[in-house]
Amino acid sequence: MSQRPGAVGVRIAGTGSAVPERRLTNDDLSKMVDTNDEWIVQRTGIRERRICDPSKEGTFTLNRDALKNALAAANMSGADLDLVIVGTCTQEMNCPSVACRVAGEVGAVGAGAFDVVAACSGFVYSMNIADSLIRSGRFRRIGVCGGDAMSSVIDYQERSVSILFGDAAGAAILVADDNPDRGCIYQQLGSDGRDWSGLYLPRRAAEVPEADRDNPIRLGCLRMNGREVFKFAVTRFRQIIEDSFKATSLTADDMSQIICHQSNIRIIDSAIEKLGLPREKVFVNIDKFGNSSAGSVGLCFDQLWRAGKIPQGKPMMMVAFGGGMTWASGVWNI
Ligand code: UT7
Repeated sequence: MSQRPGAVGVRIAGTGSAVPERRLTNDDLSKMVDTNDEWIVQRTGIRERRICDPSKEGTFTLNRDALKNALAAANMSGADLDLVIVGTCTQEMNCPSVACRVAGEVGAVGAGAFDVVAACSGFVYSMNIADSLIRSGRFRRIGVCGGDAMSSVIDYQERSVSILFGDAAGAAILVADDNPDRGCIYQQLGSDGRDWSGLYLPRRAAEVPEADRDNPIRLGCLRMNGREVFKFAVTRFRQIIEDSFKATSLTADDMSQIICHQSNIRIIDSAIEKLGLPREKVFVNIDKFGNSSAGSVGLCFDQLWRAGKIPQGKPMMMVAFGGGMTWASGVWNI
């Protein structure tokens, strides 16, 4: 199935990212909760993650800084944008959206702005939406961000979640291109809301599902059934990568990179092994940044882009899954 509507293509004009300076190592965590470096490295591949200083950093500042860096790389200013999209699930406020504040700070006054809540799939969801909007002919220059300050929703007494997550944001500037073959040539956005209670962020006691009521829950903190999410992720990751290859008739050999959401090294390794993916094409930075939710794929994208590993003329793929449950993939002709 080919997905190439319209006569407009999409070009990536620049990328950016932002991470807090503060590092939280496994040894730091072992002083806060009953865990240790060996367990965390073996079970997740994570050695350290970045954590915001809440007095001056958060979801808004990370996404703002990532977008500023992407605009600078694209040699553009905020005033050039006609839309800003931010994928996030850790908004400081429900109103205004993070996107409105980011747009205001980068000088994109008058541009459309909205948040996309798809948890860890947020950046890939937002990239796919932005590509479709440009192809519709209604927008020409879109700033896409994905970023979360997961530290703002983590109970650091809860070892199953505190070891996994970190804070980061990634961004890309998408612009209309005369070549309709350029941009996202295949995309998938998916969800299965029946399984939402595997990973959720309750604000009110009434929203805690029956099965979780007897557990120690802190409202405003992320709640996760790690084993269930793990099983879901391993199957879904493989499925969406296979779907993307089948739909585009491309193989892993054709790709410059296959960027997987940095959730757990064992989930990424399982996809590599089961699909026989070339290891050097599946970038990994989870050891240094942990799982930064909607920040993860955008941060990888920016690091690879700046390292010259996503060359023009070669397709690449992005895949993610997250709370909702949600999943998304995109195959891009760069
Ligand atoms: O972006 C999407 C969000 N989430 C994910 O992708 C998470 C998916 N799930 C996972 O990554 C893994 O399930 C975890 C890393 C969360 C947990 O790893 P696991 O291999 O599934 O461990 P488990 O929950 O099955 O626990 C195994 C053992 C248990 O001990 P017993 O019962 O075997 O004695 C746990 O109590 O490890 C223990 N344990 C820990 N030990 C030290 C669980 N968490 C920890 C910990 N430190 N942090």
